[in-house]
Amino acid sequence: MLDFLSQTLSNFRHTGAVWPSGGRLAREMTASLRKAGGPRRILEVGPGTGPFTAMILRHLRPGDEFHVVEINPFFCKLIERRHLEPFRRQHSEITVALHESPIEDAPVEGPFDHIVCGLPFNNFPPPLVRGIFRRMLGLLAEDGDLAYFEYAAVRVMKAPVTSPSSRKNLRRIDAHAKSLHRRHQGSRRLVMANFPPAIAVRLRHQAS
Ligand SMILES: C[S@@+](CC[C@H](N)C(=O)[O-])C[C@H]1O[C@@H](n2cnc3c(N)ncnc32)[C@H](O)[C@@H]1O
Repeated sequence: MLDFLSQTLSNFRHTGAVWPSGGRLAREMTASLRKAGGPRRILEVGPGTGPFTAMILRHLRPGDEFHVVEINPFFCKLIERRHLEPFRRQHSEITVALHESPIEDAPVEGPFDHIVCGLPFNNFPPPLVRGIFRRMLGLLAEDGDLAYFEYAAVRVMKAPVTSPSSRKNLRRIDAHAKSLHRRHQGSRRLVMANFPPAIAVRLRHQAS
């Protein structure tokens, strides 16, 4: 918890939250990959201290491949030491790789069956948000899915206390999210048992 808070204070734009996600949100974010048959290729973007990483690792099976992309070197070291390295020692038959890089140019190749993304999009400029979604959707398999989350009503709550230009950005991010939702068969699940309450959003590769 303190690891996360210290990174939030030193790097709010990238971390974008004051608290790591809880177990209920982790379950919702990983719902489809936990149900799917294998072998699966899975990508996690922005693990932070690893609440989704831990849940994904628990459900990996022989033949699966799991890639993690994180921009912050502090979180990379923590994820490697706390989650990936102990997992590899016990499961040498499963490929688990960490890439210290922004997702925009991370050295990963698709297709991935499942992408689980923890990025704080409401902190980013709209062109970056569009670029990151373009990259992630381009890495998705034909019948793959991409899960991301946002805090419930975050744009509505932020709008009155931000500058006019930030408000404009939030409106553009909202419009982009709605357009993705339409084009990629979006579904949304509210998770009240998270601090703060969050909405897990799932997009499919392409509307049929
Ligand atoms: C809101 S935190 C989420 C952490 C964790 N998934 C959770 O839910 O508790 C966002 C994470 O995304 C990482 N991040 C931000 N921008 C990134 C980028 N462009 N590429 C990869 N990771 C990024 C941050 O360093 C941070 O670890």
